[in-house]
Amino acid sequence: MLEVADIVKEYRLPGQKPIRVLDGVSFSVAAGEHVAVVGRSGAGKTTLLNIVGGLDKPTSGDVRLGGESLFCGFGAARRRSRLRATKIGFIFQSYHLMPELDIVENVLLPSMTGRARVPAARARAKELLAKVGLGDRLRHLPAELSGGEQQRVALARALMCRPEVILADEPTGNLDALTGAEILKLLFEVNETPIACVMVTHSAEAAARCDRVLKLDGGRLIT
Ligand SMILES: Nc1ncnc2c1ncn2[C@@H]1O[C@H](COP(=O)(O)OP(=O)(O)O)[C@@H](O)[C@H]1O
Ligand SMILES: [Mg+2]
Repeated sequence: MLEVADIVKEYRLPGQKPIRVLDGVSFSVAAGEHVAVVGRSGAGKTTLLNIVGGLDKPTSGDVRLGGESLFCGFGAARRRSRLRATKIGFIFQSYHLMPELDIVENVLLPSMTGRARVPAARARAKELLAKVGLGDRLRHLPAELSGGEQQRVALARALMCRPEVILADEPTGNLDALTGAEILKLLFEVNETPIACVMVTHSAEAAARCDRVLKLDGGRLIT
């Protein structure tokens, strides 16, 4: 379902020799499969996840989602935006909610580019927030919620477009163990349809719950 093919990423700073952060990374993820990506700080985990989600471009290599290429061929930029908006949900360590929007509006945000009817989308946003246990906090701003609650909003937002894949970058990294475990439980259980998940994590417990663990070291995956 998700194919990551020979991704190389180099950063070039003027006057310096390029830094090769990813040195030929390939893996694939089946529908509904959960994969953990581990590795020390600076190993390139965030870089890899951003490329897999089309937020960043590789130096070479490609990512295919349901057979559609994110980076290669005619119209790749448009295809990439469409795939990002319709098939991929993101969750970040620091939530990345819009501070001036209430939580319903935050969850609605990814659907604003689509053709979804607004009333139906609002109903879905509220339903997702109820599902993650925030049904009684709909008018709240992110700042009025705890970290764990904000991450639940981010999870609802990631689910809004009914994604085929969720990409999570250290989703429990800012949370205490108990709150982190609650988020993971939701992430693993709210699957309405089978959703593939690629999760960067430092938590052994989170990695253990995944079907597979990929370790990034020296720009490559080691097994
Ligand atoms: N925009 C950038 N320009 C130059 N180097 C970068 C940039 N972004 C990340 N890096 C470097 O790439 C390496 C991997 O970073 P990152 O993917 O954030 O690692 P991780 O998420 O595993 O901690 C680091 O050495 C980092 O300094
Ligand atoms: Mg990182």
